[in-house]
Amino acid sequence: MSQKQELTDVLMVGATGTIGQLAVHAAQRHGLRPRALVRDIQRAAQQLPDVDLVQGDLEDPASLRSAVRGADAIVFTHGSGGDPRPDAREHIDYGGVRNVLSVLGAARPRVALMTSVYSTRSDVPNASLWKRRSERLLRASGLPYTIVRPGWFDHAGPTQRRLVLEQGGTADGGIASDQIAETLVRSLLTDTALGKTFELIAAEGEEPSDWNGLFDPLKADGPYSLDGALDPADLPFEAEPARLRADLDTVRSLNTSGA
Ligand SMILES: NC(=O)c1ccc[n+]([C@@H]2O[C@H](COP(=O)([O-])OP(=O)(O)OC[C@H]3O[C@@H](n4cnc5c(N)ncnc54)[C@H](OP(=O)(O)O)[C@@H]3O)[C@@H](O)[C@H]2O)c1
Repeated sequence: MSQKQELTDVLMVGATGTIGQLAVHAAQRHGLRPRALVRDIQRAAQQLPDVDLVQGDLEDPASLRSAVRGADAIVFTHGSGGDPRPDAREHIDYGGVRNVLSVLGAARPRVALMTSVYSTRSDVPNASLWKRRSERLLRASGLPYTIVRPGWFDHAGPTQRRLVLEQGGTADGGIASDQIAETLVRSLLTDTALGKTFELIAAEGEEPSDWNGLFDPLKADGPYSLDGALDPADLPFEAEPARLRADLDTVRSLNTSGA
C-alpha cells in the first residue's frame, strides 16, 4: 500500500466502464475506499460486487450532491460512448465534469481526470474537443489534479509494459487498460503528479517501479492556466462560445468563494 493517510474515500465517476471498473480495483489494491457513482444500482451491483455504490446521473447536478460528500479524491473515467445523441459529448464528457465540480462547495478533493491522447488534436477527425474543454474546467477550478490522456485502450502487446508519458499533444499509440487505471490511482498518491497533464502510451519494456520518478520530469501546468503545459495555443478563451466561457467563470468563482 502506498497511500497517504489523509486520502481514503475516492469517488469513482464512470466506475462501471471499461477503465472505471479497473480503476475501482486499483483503488482497492492501494488500500483506498472507492465509492462508485452509478446510474443503475442493480446493474452496477452485478458489475462491482462488494463496492460501495451511490446513485447519480452526471446530467443531473442535484443527484451528485450526496455522491461527492466526504470524498477525499475523485477519479473521472466516464464517457459518452454509445450515447446516440449528437451532443452527448458536451452533455456527458464535458458536462459531467462541470456538474460534479459545481456541487463540491468548499470541498477540495484531489482529482484524477482521464481524457484522451487526442484531446488537443484538431487535425484528427472526431478528436476529443469536449474532453479538452473538460480539462480546462478542472484546471480553472484550482483543485489539486492530474490529467491523464491515454492512448488506444489495449492496443499494446503483452511485452509493452513500459509507460511513456509525453506532453504537447503529439503522442500516439496504445496502452493496456489496467495500466491506465493504475496510473490514475497512482497519480492521486504521488506528489510529483500534482498539477500535471500528460499523454500516456506504452512501449516495449518493463512496468514502472518508481512512480515518483516517472511523473517528476513532466512540466506542471501553469497555475489556473486553461491548457496543459505544452498544449498548442489554438483554442483561445475569447473564441469559445459564451456558455462555455460562463462555465469557466463559474468554476473559478466556486473555487474562490468556496460557495
Ligand atoms: N477506447 C479508447 O481507445 C479510448 C482511448 C482514450 C480515451 N477514451 C475515452 O475514454 C472514455 C471512457 O472509456 P470507457 O471505454 O472506459 O467507457 P465506457 O466503458 O463506455 O464507460 C463509460 C462510463 O461512463 C458512465 N456514464 C455515462 N454517462 C453517464 C451519466 N450520465 N451519468 C453517470 N455515469 C455515466 C457509464 O455508466 P453506465 O454504466 O451507467 O452507462 C460508464 O460507467 C471514453 O469517453 C473514451 O472516449 C477511449
